[in-house]
Amino acid sequence: MGKYVIAGNWKMNKTPAEATELIEAIKPLVADAACDVVVGVPFVDIPAALEAVKGSKIGVAAQNCHWEKSGAYTGEISAEMLKAMGVGYVILGHSERRQYFGETDVTVQKRVRAALDAGLTVILCVGEYLEQREQGVTGEVVAMQTKIALGGVSEEELGRIIIAYEPVWAIGTGRTATAEQANEVCALIRGVAKDLYSEAAAAALTIQYGGSMNAGNAAELLAKPDVDGGLIGGASLKPADFATIVAAAK
Ligand code: PGA
Repeated sequence: MGKYVIAGNWKMNKTPAEATELIEAIKPLVADAACDVVVGVPFVDIPAALEAVKGSKIGVAAQNCHWEKSGAYTGEISAEMLKAMGVGYVILGHSERRQYFGETDVTVQKRVRAALDAGLTVILCVGEYLEQREQGVTGEVVAMQTKIALGGVSEEELGRIIIAYEPVWAIGTGRTATAEQANEVCALIRGVAKDLYSEAAAAALTIQYGGSMNAGNAAELLAKPDVDGGLIGGASLKPADFATIVAAAK
């Protein structure tokens, strides 16, 4: 895994046919990418996405997975199932899962465990609400989310974890964190990793910023020393914009 990773989070968008079309449009634009490129697609788009990325370096991510291998969990998808399909990555703990679907730090930790056991690379999302930022507890919130999610993760396994710092107030709002704010929290997360593991593991960790990152602001955010990539929602659905962000990640 390279240090810089730009990942698209398509959320609940695109049919399988549309996924093929979007990846075909992105593919030539990111052929010379100096970073790793990933598209996070809805479960039903995975077969089409895996087919479409063939012959490119683009990786495919799912947007969630369950913590059990199989069983009576109607509507859920296991990490094992994703791995069996050929999926390489899974986004876990996204704030929309935490906000709308009852995801907690504890269930995120269980999902991280299952994903690592299945051999997937995890894009672990953490981030504070606006009220928490205004209360001055961003550091505490993000450190706690990170520590709980990494509970039981070994230093070797940390090599298959990407952490995405996504302030909830910046997601889908057009209100991006400043590059300084993004870097400050990414640096804090790196400090948590250093305390939990080692200086070397913390330095090797890929820490993304996410939250209204777009073609216009990506270069400034990605120039910051502790911002090693981006998790991109809205702009990842626009091939030219996504490619501009990829090109900014060197
Ligand atoms: P956004 O979403 O880029 O549309 O703000 C980011 C995310 O939710 O990962």
